[in-house]
Amino acid sequence: MKEDLLKENRRTFLKGGLVLGGLALLNPQNAISNPVNKSDEEFKIITGPYLQTNFGNGISILWITSKDSASWVEYGESPDSLEKKAYGKSDLGLKPASRLNCVKLTGLKPGVIYHYRIVSKEIRSFQPYKLTYGETVTGSTESFLNTDTAKNEISFVMLNDIHDRPKSIAHLLDLDKGNKRDFIFFNGDVFDYQTDEKQIVDHMIQPCVDYFARTTPFVYVRGNHETRGKFARDFAAYFDHVGYAAFTLGPVRFVILDTGEDKEDSHPVYAGIVDFDRYLEEQAMWLEQEITHKEFKNAPFRVVLMHIPPRYSGDAHGAVHCTELFEPIMNRGRVDLVLSGHTHQYKVHAPDKKLNNYPIIIGGGPLEGTRTLTRVTANKRQMLVSMLDDSGKEVGQYRVSAK
Ligand SMILES: [Fe+2]
Repeated sequence: MKEDLLKENRRTFLKGGLVLGGLALLNPQNAISNPVNKSDEEFKIITGPYLQTNFGNGISILWITSKDSASWVEYGESPDSLEKKAYGKSDLGLKPASRLNCVKLTGLKPGVIYHYRIVSKEIRSFQPYKLTYGETVTGSTESFLNTDTAKNEISFVMLNDIHDRPKSIAHLLDLDKGNKRDFIFFNGDVFDYQTDEKQIVDHMIQPCVDYFARTTPFVYVRGNHETRGKFARDFAAYFDHVGYAAFTLGPVRFVILDTGEDKEDSHPVYAGIVDFDRYLEEQAMWLEQEITHKEFKNAPFRVVLMHIPPRYSGDAHGAVHCTELFEPIMNRGRVDLVLSGHTHQYKVHAPDKKLNNYPIIIGGGPLEGTRTLTRVTANKRQMLVSMLDDSGKEVGQYRVSAK
């Protein structure tokens, strides 16, 4: 079982077309202690499907089953003909046989709507030379638009600092009802700390599945609170990716930084088992490389998404470390916009010629009256940011024109 889950963790890092950084280190101690398959327990899909993507003409379809399973996705361009079949990534010749399912569809056509359904076959008993299958469960047929990454105009919305208030997800997304976005971005601190699988499902995945995630992908980066709690080392296995990354969508090069913790690694609350200084330094070295790539340099706009803002969030160690490490690189790279959270006080900070040469827009939350939905649209000429509070009133706006 642990090996199966280790493969799930490994799968998180083995994706093409996306510049990835580490989060779920391949340590067997990170593997999840799954419940043993009990024959009297109903075999079912606990949650899903939910979509994540790196915008490389592929999409990852994830779901969770109540017991280990052999799983796949059936898909095609017509809902009546799901003629193709895709499995989770094999590792050392073995297909996955886990509860946490992730199937990546690749080689998709840009701008085409695909229809799909998830299928899982229960592994009832797993003996060395005799595997016995049980029930097969099939999800309903769903669809998604495979975004054309070369398109002229793109848009997304940002949620941040939900802090274990799952109703905020639907409430805030309702403010944007009727708009089709390319992705939903979670900028950290969806949770207070990580406790168990039920928390991840009930407080994030299921609300996302109910609202949008069967048809629209989300992109997610950790905040400092996702690094806390006894389940923090299992957390990444529930997602395609939650660490640092970069991708291009339309006129925007997106860079995602995983800003780690707010206190020094030696703080007693971490009990000696965190290593964020080194993790941030690793990202700074990666960012130095990223700003030299043509995808970054030639993009009409360069947007950095990071939970702890690179300024304006106090003088705690994590915030200061982010400033010291990332600000000089982002200034040199001529970043156009930074979107953050963490402070729980929404605010638009204009560029400062001596400090941050780019605007830093910070979303609010998590309490009623302080929550925000940040909406971003971009074409080759301009990028517009509009921040709404949870009553739908615009409380922040910013326009970036192409240089
Ligand atoms: Fe935070």
